Amino acid sequence: MALKTIKIEEQRSYRGKDFPLVLSPESSQGSDKAQLLNWLSDNQGYLRELMMEHGAVLLRNCPVDGPHDFESVLDSAEFVNMPYVGGAAPREEVTKGRILTANESPPDQPIPFHHEMAQVPKPPAYIFFYCDIASETGGETAIVHSGRVYERFSESSPEFAQKVEELGVKYRRVMPDQDDHSSPIGRSWRSTFLTDDPVEAEEKMRSIGTNWTWRGDGTLYTETAIVPAIRTEERTGIKTFYNSVVAAYTGWTDDRNDPKHAVVCGDDSPVDHTAVMEAHSAMQEECVAFKWQRGDVLLIDNSLVMHSRRPYTGARRILASIAVG
Ligand SMILES: [Fe+2]
Repeated sequence: MALKTIKIEEQRSYRGKDFPLVLSPESSQGSDKAQLLNWLSDNQGYLRELMMEHGAVLLRNCPVDGPHDFESVLDSAEFVNMPYVGGAAPREEVTKGRILTANESPPDQPIPFHHEMAQVPKPPAYIFFYCDIASETGGETAIVHSGRVYERFSESSPEFAQKVEELGVKYRRVMPDQDDHSSPIGRSWRSTFLTDDPVEAEEKMRSIGTNWTWRGDGTLYTETAIVPAIRTEERTGIKTFYNSVVAAYTGWTDDRNDPKHAVVCGDDSPVDHTAVMEAHSAMQEECVAFKWQRGDVLLIDNSLVMHSRRPYTGARRILASIAVG
């Protein structure tokens, strides 16, 4: 089976390229699973190039039926699985291998734009989503090209853009003792560091430069090492708004956390409210929010593109997986 480029109505373009690129089987008869997996296996390098050029690739109308098929797609293209250590979102394991549910936080809460795990020193190179059940309304996994967001951010807030580019940022978060599914950042320290042993959790934090304080109620206050806010993507030379500043400042809220204190500049000074809100608006204006169809696979180059989740109603099951470069 060959795949061809198709258009969808929600699509945009960035630097003259479709965003996202949408690939679909050449003929409607050609939707054979084995052929799809062969194509992915034969075109691994090409697929990665397309992801770099376009930022994101959507496979639509392909024979991908359930979590195990999704796993086969990623295995065939030989994406190297990355364990989900250090992320903030509550998730469930779906397959023994590499498939998890996407963030299971409450449906009425939006998840703001972010690069996956931008708060850790080595974020995944790729993130993949699969639509197992499309929601009745809403629930789009909206995406935005981070190069475009940087352009807008540096135009609207040049001084603050330069400041955070030079100083970097730090994230502060209180993790619960047990997973808290009522919160978009409810991942417990146990799940975050994949251990029940506080000493082991401390070793892992030390290894990534995170500072911490144990609180009497079993919760854990953490402050990350200084991480970049603006990164120049190596392969393309595109400057990106690669950080979790907007996500933290507008979304890291629950009983334990005040989002206004969730991110600071590298010198401990507060972030500029107006500049962060301008970046937030730019993301909403520049994004693509396509309607999920069952079987859709979205392949995202995490160095170039941010994702988010819109609120929804009805059942929705979007699966996720991450990979190293
Ligand atoms: Fe995410």
